[in-house]
Amino acid sequence: MTITKHKPVKKAVFPVAGLGTRFLPATKVMPKEMLPLVDRPLIQRAVEEAQEAGIEEFIFVTGRNKSLITEHFELQPEMVEALTNKNKTDLLERLSHSDLPSGTLMTTVQQKALGLGHAVWCARKLVGDEPFALFLVDVMTLSNQGGCMKQMIDVYSKTGGNVIAAAEVPNEVTYKYGILDVESPSNAVSPIKAMVEKPKPEDAPSNLSILGRYILQPEIFDILEGQKQGAGGEIQLTDAMQTLLKSQDFTSMTLNGKHYDCGHHIGFIEANIAFALQDPKFGPEMREILKNYL
Ligand code: G1P
Repeated sequence: MTITKHKPVKKAVFPVAGLGTRFLPATKVMPKEMLPLVDRPLIQRAVEEAQEAGIEEFIFVTGRNKSLITEHFELQPEMVEALTNKNKTDLLERLSHSDLPSGTLMTTVQQKALGLGHAVWCARKLVGDEPFALFLVDVMTLSNQGGCMKQMIDVYSKTGGNVIAAAEVPNEVTYKYGILDVESPSNAVSPIKAMVEKPKPEDAPSNLSILGRYILQPEIFDILEGQKQGAGGEIQLTDAMQTLLKSQDFTSMTLNGKHYDCGHHIGFIEANIAFALQDPKFGPEMREILKNYL
């Protein structure tokens, strides 16, 4: 068997410029990516998922009033000193997870909210000519088989090209997602034949949705450069990927695990319950407490 070497994925892009109006007033001052999922902000969970997958450079596509997100990943010397003096080693250890190594965090500004495709295009200079991982921070995943991006990197090491994480959704909600048409729907990993952004249920080629994690080749930027508005009047990443599909391979990977839409209240609340239940520290007590409510 010959093993082909694919260019490693070392950079990740996190579009975080969105206003987060759905969560007002919680997000009046605080970016939605800073909402805590149990004990850590959503953005930290996404960064940790990236680190687990071997990502070494983190590119945030930010907008106005989003400086807290980058600050969260800066070393806080006063806090470190105070905790060191009090010998709080467990807290020091926990804090250290949010200190990114010097020179690995980069930001670029999306000046106008023109859509996901536009947000990704804003990262072109920082990504350069390399494959990259893309994380939609609204979506959080839980799996006992390693994080979603780790699973995708494993697929990529075999397939190369572009990889999209997918999950089945009820037929009636296809209009909320990018939807895939894959070659082997019964397989967890399959070549993608086509994709369409937010189709009505009657027009959807399947109920396999684009989940919010991608591995993309840099040629996507050339397509995004001239990408016209699509669904909802926005510059859609899915439309650009559909164009790239004509010249490059795209593989879908159905997540081995569960995913949560943290961009809506109910999904966010459910994610908090699910993540707390699987946390060794909070799980047992949480399970007992929940019994009082059911
Ligand atoms: C975006 C993508 C869509 C994907 C979804 C996952 O849509 O455009 O293809 O299915 O994220 O959450 P949005 O949620 O930004 O409308």
